[in-house]
Amino acid sequence: MEYVELNTGINIPIVGSGTNTFGKVNHDYMGEINGDTTELLEAISLGYRHFDTAIAYRNEAVVGRAIKESGLDRSEFFITSKIPGTEAYYQGEQDVQNGVEASLKALDTDYIDLYLIHHPWNDLEGILQVWKVLEDYVDKGVLKAIGVSNFEEKELTYLTDHARIQPAVNQIESHPGNWNADIIEKSFKLNVIPEAWGPLTRVSDEAKAVLDEIGASYNKTWAQVILRYQVEQGIIVIPKSHNKERQAQNKDLFDFELTKAERERIAVL
Ligand SMILES: NC(=O)c1ccc[n+]([C@@H]2O[C@H](COP(=O)([O-])OP(=O)(O)OC[C@H]3O[C@@H](n4cnc5c(N)ncnc54)[C@H](OP(=O)(O)O)[C@@H]3O)[C@@H](O)[C@H]2O)c1
Repeated sequence: MEYVELNTGINIPIVGSGTNTFGKVNHDYMGEINGDTTELLEAISLGYRHFDTAIAYRNEAVVGRAIKESGLDRSEFFITSKIPGTEAYYQGEQDVQNGVEASLKALDTDYIDLYLIHHPWNDLEGILQVWKVLEDYVDKGVLKAIGVSNFEEKELTYLTDHARIQPAVNQIESHPGNWNADIIEKSFKLNVIPEAWGPLTRVSDEAKAVLDEIGASYNKTWAQVILRYQVEQGIIVIPKSHNKERQAQNKDLFDFELTKAERERIAVL
């Protein structure tokens, strides 16, 4: 596994696993939590050590339980969670504290490796106030790094201009059809590592055909070509699969390299 060094000096595995439908009935995002840790344990057995969860996914406790069930030490893992950008979590200091404490309790841990503001809202000063509470948790060593998600340039630059502790990561949607190249470039310029969510969703059949053609000479699938394209740029990826074979494919990205011409073809998909 390769790592990216965050601006805190901490290393994050460049490939993690998404979790937003894990531990849920019918693998439905809105489905009831059934606590099933099968996919998480399969991912761990394949060597995944980086998991992406959120308060909004309601499954932090499932992730925490899988880590315990793995028998591995907590320190082996890199766990990301997120506080929602919704009123219940941003109206006062106590709301933010309640969010962080709820995540710690659900994950059954005394620290979280990376904690993100899940979505921005229309109040830059309000976002900064929430950020300050998260900074206090960094000071205490409870949150090892803090970052944001779905932040556009306006919100990101306001935060980097005013924050005492700089955001480490901006987790944004990125896949063929919507690479979001501008905000990725802007994030890198601000020393905020971009992280791609939904890298394998909403990919058209036409794009898959081109990616499969590129992948054929390396014995790789369209999905692996997307993920390779992203990690070659230093973007963190968090693909999610409920299938062990595809989970294995999604981290098998480090024995081939795309050519410049291939990268140019992929960039316009
Ligand atoms: N910050 C945010 O606002 C935000 C928003 C959305 C998601 N996220 C995070 O990002 C993670 C990833 O996004 P996502 O779960 O929406 O989508 P994704 O990982 O891009 O795609 C998941 C879908 O792709 C399929 N798939 C996975 N690997 C494959 C492969 N190698 N070949 C072919 N198909 C494959 C999966 O089906 P199978 O299960 O059948 O393999 C599943 O249907 C989420 O789980 C969540 O942690 C964050």
